[in-house]
Amino acid sequence: MLEGRSLIEPLNFSVEEMDGLFVLAERIEEDGTYLRESCRGKLLATLFFEPSTRTRLSFEAAMLRLGGSFLGFADPGSSSAAKGESLADTVRMAASYADAIVMRNPKEGAALLASRYSPVPVINAGDGGHHHPTQTLTDLLTIKRLRGNPGAGLGDSVRGLTVGFCGDLKFGRTVHSLARALARYEKVRLVFVSPPELRVPEYITRLLAKEGIDFLETPSLEGAMPDLDVLYMTRVQRERFFNEEDYIRLKDTYVLNREKMELAKKNLIVLHPLPRVNEIAVEVDEDPRAAYFRQAKYGMYVRMALLSSVLGAA
Ligand code: NCD
Repeated sequence: MLEGRSLIEPLNFSVEEMDGLFVLAERIEEDGTYLRESCRGKLLATLFFEPSTRTRLSFEAAMLRLGGSFLGFADPGSSSAAKGESLADTVRMAASYADAIVMRNPKEGAALLASRYSPVPVINAGDGGHHHPTQTLTDLLTIKRLRGNPGAGLGDSVRGLTVGFCGDLKFGRTVHSLARALARYEKVRLVFVSPPELRVPEYITRLLAKEGIDFLETPSLEGAMPDLDVLYMTRVQRERFFNEEDYIRLKDTYVLNREKMELAKKNLIVLHPLPRVNEIAVEVDEDPRAAYFRQAKYGMYVRMALLSSVLGAA
């Protein structure tokens, strides 16, 4: 039962609970009327202390499609945080108006803190360079829909897959959450492609090693390409750098283009949480293996499944 539950990190929900959400999301995708009015009268607060397009809009679209409403802010400058209000106070206030809270904040741990002060479910829409669990739900649903057998659980869909992550693996919260989530499944292989400065944090590789996950770190995208079933490209996270020079030096380390796509399997899936900057050339968009725009759509379905579940409406 997910009613009343918060989602702060990808492992807050069990494998079975995630499968339940994917089944619900697939049903919503199939039948446009399913759960359509289920959140009538419910209010979602969207508190975005950091920029967002897809995540915020997809939560808002999800809530509206369920018949509910939302209120909130997309710019912390227009909220009382600008006057020095603490996060705890903002959250307590929002919880007194709304039935659930979706929050994005530049500080790692902000969502967890918010959930401690909130009597209503808190959904983490990104806390600094830490986690982004609803992007992970989006990514996993996309893999399941494009590579899975209908009706099978996610474990069956990801068994035997080699998933590559490329780009800013140090600051990319979507990478941290997805790698953590994938590590729960059997026979998944992870390949981390980054320059040495942007390697995946040690706390993640240590965890993977402890759980016996087969993984590899390499600076070469070309070298990794032929083995991959899924390639998860990411943007270099400019806003998390301490100096602009390092960002400029590293930002174009990897650019996925037609030439590199030729090295890959015929049924590769290219994912990207978006926004894209330069790391995927526009020419790749026409390749049938480019799945990042479809991925954004699955994000809305899985957020509908999530909201209707935590609000007790599913
Ligand atoms: C990601 C994020 O905010 O972490 N975007 C998203 O939610 N779709 C990735 C990014 O900003 O690079």
